[in-house]
Amino acid sequence: MSDTRALLAGLREGAVPSADALSAFAAGLADGSVSDAQAGAFAMAVCQRGLGEAGRVALTQAMTASGKVLRWDLSGPVLDKHSTGGLGDCVSLVLAPALAACGAFVPMISGRGLGHTGGTLDKLEAVPGVSVTLDEARFRAVVDEAGCAIVSASPDIAPADKRLYAVRDVTGTVESLDLITASILSKKLAAGLDGLVLDVKTGSGAFMKTEGEARALAEALVETAKAAGCPTTALITDMSQPLAPAMGNALEVAEAVAVLRGDRAGLLLEVSVALGGALLASAGLEADAKAGAQRIRDAISSGAAAERFARMLAAQGGPLGFVEAPVRYLPEAPVIHEVTAQQEGYVTAFAGQSLGLATVALGAGRKVESDSVNPAVGFSDIVPLGTKVAKGQPLMRIHAAREAQAAEAETAVRAAITHTPLAPEPRPLVLAEVR
Ligand code: URA
Repeated sequence: MSDTRALLAGLREGAVPSADALSAFAAGLADGSVSDAQAGAFAMAVCQRGLGEAGRVALTQAMTASGKVLRWDLSGPVLDKHSTGGLGDCVSLVLAPALAACGAFVPMISGRGLGHTGGTLDKLEAVPGVSVTLDEARFRAVVDEAGCAIVSASPDIAPADKRLYAVRDVTGTVESLDLITASILSKKLAAGLDGLVLDVKTGSGAFMKTEGEARALAEALVETAKAAGCPTTALITDMSQPLAPAMGNALEVAEAVAVLRGDRAGLLLEVSVALGGALLASAGLEADAKAGAQRIRDAISSGAAAERFARMLAAQGGPLGFVEAPVRYLPEAPVIHEVTAQQEGYVTAFAGQSLGLATVALGAGRKVESDSVNPAVGFSDIVPLGTKVAKGQPLMRIHAAREAQAAEAETAVRAAITHTPLAPEPRPLVLAEVR
């Protein structure tokens, strides 16, 4: 029996494969000697049987080593953050430059929109001229020059994950703690990090709808990353409403710039500060998370973070002067339509996934991989949870390419917002920390 067949037969019976067997399997995914049928059988067996902690660590390390692992020789620690995805989540655009302004280097390998959630690369590409597909030499030069760069994974970063992810997507095997952990971390570890912070989101706009599911994922990710040698902390954060009061690529860039310029308080700033604080503390750049959080706030209020963002954008092909006047450069949708409250009451809940899918329907995300996104469309001025609105007061603005799409989005938005006569209980933003 070939090694792959033996590995699959063992998995079927609940055996945990050896690290060597998993390395050979990951190498086979990368070089094509493992077939799609074998990859599908592997994913299904892992979904059903699980790998246990040792197997999950071994798979993560094997997938990381299936391609290039970057090494850095810089004057500060190499740090990064990963979010499990949510609404109005443009934290990376705030946090990468803020960390750079604190003396860290952030070679951020990011993704595109997934399901109902947006993607950092799509957001950054809303800025005219910006390129996220840099070759390694240019990626290194931008990190060196600006302290941060945000790019897509090159084909040689974790190639085993690229194959396995595509197979999982069509075999009903995305939802496995072991496979999700190995997939997320293999790409992050391949960036050669000294420290990582994870934003594991829970709530109606997250993939993990319950806090229990989010905690299980956070624990698996933190244990695995640490076992693979990367100091990692996870915060479990609330995703029952958009973080920025906007959803959509250019609209979120405008919000991130407003935070970086010190013009915007709110959830986006607070999550960025909490994540950055935890990361600076775990990387030893600050004594504790509180001091780390203050350092991130100072980097923003001094303008140092905005200056790093401007440098990064310019180094990735964006316009000089963008941070001073983003509206001059960001695309604007031809139809802007206000949605107003039909009755008085408190905004008590958002059906987050539906809200996200409504922005995808407007063109802010993709229904199939080959779709192109419209950077201008989405929602802005979204009222936060707990806001009391009178009849006729605005709930948000829809930015659409056509009137008919705005009308469809309005129907979806109305169905996704719950209004009640009683104010909701305020929710903490950071629900737990896992270290
Ligand atoms: N993001 C990833 O990169 N991989 C997963 O499996 C899930 C989310």
